[in-house]
Amino acid sequence: MPAVKKRRKRVIRRRLKKEVVFVALAFILFLYICISIPSLFTSNKLAKLGYDQDAIAVIKELKLSDLLLDNQWYSDQLNEALKQDSFRSDLIELYLATDALSNDDLLLYDRLATSYSKEDLISCFQQLEFYEMTPLLVFDPIEDLSGYIQDVLNHRAQNSSDHFELSNSYVTYYQDTEPTEDPGSITMLVNKHFYLSESFIPENLVEMSVKYASKGVQMTQEAYDAFAQMCDAMNQEGLSMYASSTYRSYQYQQELYDDYVKRDGEQEADTYAARPGFSEHQTGLTADLASSSGGLSKFGESAEYQWMLQHAHQYGWILRYPEGKETLTGYDAEPWHWRYVGAETAAKVQASGLTYDEYYLLYLQK
Ligand code: DAL
Ligand code: ZN
Repeated sequence: MPAVKKRRKRVIRRRLKKEVVFVALAFILFLYICISIPSLFTSNKLAKLGYDQDAIAVIKELKLSDLLLDNQWYSDQLNEALKQDSFRSDLIELYLATDALSNDDLLLYDRLATSYSKEDLISCFQQLEFYEMTPLLVFDPIEDLSGYIQDVLNHRAQNSSDHFELSNSYVTYYQDTEPTEDPGSITMLVNKHFYLSESFIPENLVEMSVKYASKGVQMTQEAYDAFAQMCDAMNQEGLSMYASSTYRSYQYQQELYDDYVKRDGEQEADTYAARPGFSEHQTGLTADLASSSGGLSKFGESAEYQWMLQHAHQYGWILRYPEGKETLTGYDAEPWHWRYVGAETAAKVQASGLTYDEYYLLYLQK
């Protein structure tokens, strides 16, 4: 082929190549515009609704734009929550209905969601305080939750995180009972719902020294060590107490309970004595306390009791049946009845202000 022809062909090929590249680039640009313009519109609409750029990025990543725009959903709390690692896209309506949701709130929501609908719970979270909802963990599932909410609202004036009473009862004790999870652990829950078997005897029971207890009573080694340390610390401040009743076997609790029923009838006995298997005394982690000056019945009026309220949690001990929480524990207040759960848990229970029943069901139940 002559050289001129060859050159012309090369020029044509080069031009063709340029045109192909140009068309490809134009096509890519076209695609980019097609994709980004609606996205820009969406961002703009979300921004107009109130969301900031960081929240918008999350909204897009989670593909929530249509949901939020179609419903015109916005709240400052949702805008902030979207940017947290703990954000839960399944709970958008809950973020919208409340001013603030902590991790504890989310945990409570999840626990209650096994018994209640989303709508019912949103209504609760909208109207009730945390301490007004944690009792639902202890109560039987309530059919008409709006009735419960009204009952709580009616008692707002006299209730607080230290005192909780209602007009109606929401729990039937000793019904649909379950064996205690993890029997033998220092955090096991034993109450009118969770029981220990007849054959359960705690490991490492040791007889306590008469320096710390009535003669012949027993407690598990770990609880005893903490108890002795606690008593020693109390003694240094010129106060003194001892454990008058600690571990009680299933059979002994049976005898006690039967005697109380004979004396006062079942209904009355149930307000102050546990049925066998349902007594914390069977755990070996419990002590009924008596001050050296006033004994057990006056323990609640003693300086030793005040000391315990301030310091017991540092040694792993908690008050189990506080005054004002009878509707939750199922027992009349017992200032003398203390329970060992370990220092770490005791400090958290103390800080939470919850009964151990609520605390366990919220944070510890498997
Ligand atoms: N007095 C407590 C509730 C018991 O009998 O275990
Ligand atoms: Zn007791």
